[in-house]
Amino acid sequence: MINIAVLGYGTVGSGVVEVFFKNRESLQKKAGQELDLKYILDVRDFPDSPFADRFTKDFNKILDDDSVKVVAEVIGGIEPSYGFTKACLERGKSVVTSNKELVAQRGAELLAVAREHHCNYLFEASVGGGIPIIRPLHMCLAANQIDEIAGILNGTTNFILTKMIRENMAFDEALALAQKLGYAERNPAADVEGHDACRKICILASLSFGEHVFPKDVYTEGITKITLEDVAYAQDFGSVIKLIGRCKRAGDGGKITAMVAPAFIHHESQLGTVDDVFNGILVRGDATGDVVFYGKGAGKLPTASAVVGDIIECVKATDTSPSLRWNPSEGGNVADRADNVTRVYLRCRSDEVKVLEVARKLLGEVQVLSRPGQPADEFAFVTEQALPERTIDAAVEKLTGMGVEVLGKIRVLDY
Ligand code: HSE
Repeated sequence: MINIAVLGYGTVGSGVVEVFFKNRESLQKKAGQELDLKYILDVRDFPDSPFADRFTKDFNKILDDDSVKVVAEVIGGIEPSYGFTKACLERGKSVVTSNKELVAQRGAELLAVAREHHCNYLFEASVGGGIPIIRPLHMCLAANQIDEIAGILNGTTNFILTKMIRENMAFDEALALAQKLGYAERNPAADVEGHDACRKICILASLSFGEHVFPKDVYTEGITKITLEDVAYAQDFGSVIKLIGRCKRAGDGGKITAMVAPAFIHHESQLGTVDDVFNGILVRGDATGDVVFYGKGAGKLPTASAVVGDIIECVKATDTSPSLRWNPSEGGNVADRADNVTRVYLRCRSDEVKVLEVARKLLGEVQVLSRPGQPADEFAFVTEQALPERTIDAAVEKLTGMGVEVLGKIRVLDY
């Protein structure tokens, strides 16, 4: 009999318990062992829960119980999750988690602790919710050099943008709905400001490129400045606006490229058709070419599915996975945003300056866009050329200096 403990009985934790007991029989067959979920750690009381006898507030009870071999950390955040995880791994207990913040900050270190103590630290649920992506990257695609990844990595923002695009719904209303459906982070700023997607692209970049990539090094822009006007101009360009996290392997002697920002994406492309709470992750391997992973990126049961899958993997493992690893780094391994080369959409307002004329001088030929109800003093266009961001920044500065209001600036990508 292998015992399991769950740390945290929030949205994901309660989902893990639900899935475990619902599918216990088949899980035991897949694990080849009898399994029990012996403890649920939470600071709150749940006297009416059918699992009331399993709750504890004492982490040491779990740590000191040698029958507990696998611990699911679904508390989130850095502390106490980091301390609990490290302590469990040091006792040889495998830990599985949905905690992207912790993996993105301290993944290299915790993987090394697991290796040292011959157990596992697995985090399939940390990226893409219910979508298998971590194990495919280091196992099924192991033959490849992964060159690039681009994805819609946050369900909440994709849900909000879809509501704005399809139903003209206001931002706040869509966010409230995402929160009600259990998609959003406790602090939804992490979703709408792009930090959650940033943590996820850092995990994918670290695993794919073999060295730790820290969120602080990745330029991150959320969706709070996106307006229905931008949505309408994107439509005129045959595009939709999506929050895209992307990373690219460094060239010889260069740095990794990584960024999270809203982007115009062709509405019929693989990522352009990913709507609602769904995530889509495009992985470019040197042998496979593009492979796309798609599924529910947030929510109680999809995320619990990934956590429980990792529990089974830990039960079956005889030692630490040799392929789930990357090297520690000091950071500073991501290229400067200003070096990024991109096409860009700009939306400007001026009743005096000849905006399009000036823009063409500064940015080369542009494709002019229109929308229903467009005021006479509003101009929107997309550059024909991909340009270094420092050139785009300089153009925006010049236009602003001339009295032009730059109301929107969104990258245009061709994934
Ligand atoms: N808040 C996250 C999202 C949850 O919306 O994608 C899953 O990581």
